[in-house]
Amino acid sequence: MAEPWKIPPIVQELAAGVQEPPSRYVVRDQDRPAAAAAAAMPEPIPIVDLSRLSAADDGGGADGEVAKLRCALQNWGLFLAVGHGIEPGFLAEMMQVTRGFFNLPTEEKQKYSNLVNGKEFRFEGYGNDVVLSEDQILDWCDRLYLIVEPESRVVGSLWPARPPAFSAVLREYTARCRRIADVVLSSLARLLGLREDRFVGMMNEGVAMTHARFNYYPRCPRPDLVLGLKSHSDASVITVVLIDDAVGGLQVQKPNDGGGVWYDVPIVPSALLVNVGDAIEITSNGFFTSPVHRAVANAERDRVSLAMFYTLDPEKEIEPLPELVDEKRPRRYGKTTTKDYLAVLFERFAGGARAMDTVK
Ligand code: SIN
Ligand code: FE2
Repeated sequence: MAEPWKIPPIVQELAAGVQEPPSRYVVRDQDRPAAAAAAAMPEPIPIVDLSRLSAADDGGGADGEVAKLRCALQNWGLFLAVGHGIEPGFLAEMMQVTRGFFNLPTEEKQKYSNLVNGKEFRFEGYGNDVVLSEDQILDWCDRLYLIVEPESRVVGSLWPARPPAFSAVLREYTARCRRIADVVLSSLARLLGLREDRFVGMMNEGVAMTHARFNYYPRCPRPDLVLGLKSHSDASVITVVLIDDAVGGLQVQKPNDGGGVWYDVPIVPSALLVNVGDAIEITSNGFFTSPVHRAVANAERDRVSLAMFYTLDPEKEIEPLPELVDEKRPRRYGKTTTKDYLAVLFERFAGGARAMDTVK
């Protein structure tokens, strides 16, 4: 029998019955959302039109989309993507089936539990992130985690049967997002002076996987005391996030500003958020920085989001690309693999720390 603290409650159920978050969810004073409320942005997070990025006639001039992308990634490590080719109606459908799943009765959702036999943690499935110690601060969030690509790694039994359209919509969304990932990765390669297919090629080696993480943040009576999702950067190569366009909550730090200031990511209807992950920070030899971000809870409304993490083959080595290492820019990171890195990341995440320091 697993120790009871290893099996966290479903936050959605907990939230329905409490006036105050239990102590396991209350974050340290310095991590409380109010400690860094709504700093004014030094410059806005750029909105990049992906349809113009792929157009051959963008000369890369100062006003060009490529220049905007460079600026976005250097200043923030992320951008809001428009012109991505997915119609607003389809994004709304993806959101609707996501909400539809989280609105099901708990018994129905537990059919896809990430606790095997009610106790052994696995990444895939419905539940919460792994709890590694009794004093770990828990996030005000439930999540469903699914591998969506390649087909050979899809565990169909964990894909929700309800709402009935869930799987078909997710499959379509996965295919559409893949095209977005390819456009962004080609542009990143160009920005670094690499062959355009350098990253896309890496993503085609072995069993590169796409993980979908559906987040559900219940309404919280005291959003000032908790975090929806602790501070972290993503292990991925890149992440594409569909964010609720009714409720804000995502906050980001500015890479390299050293101040630990949090900025609210604005809501731009029908835009997708794209951020680079740790695997790009490592392979680009630090040219791009993987942004530290977190989600805060909301007193008025629940919130959902869907993050698609593009990762390399679990066994493939991740290290600075030789083309990006020279005397002027010596190698900044060691070597790791997605598999090892993810193990470290989740351990660090549980303790509220970043994993990047482990590959220095
Ligand atoms: C995340 O995936 O890091 C959070 C995304 C969000 O809820 O906005
Ligand atoms: Fe994230």
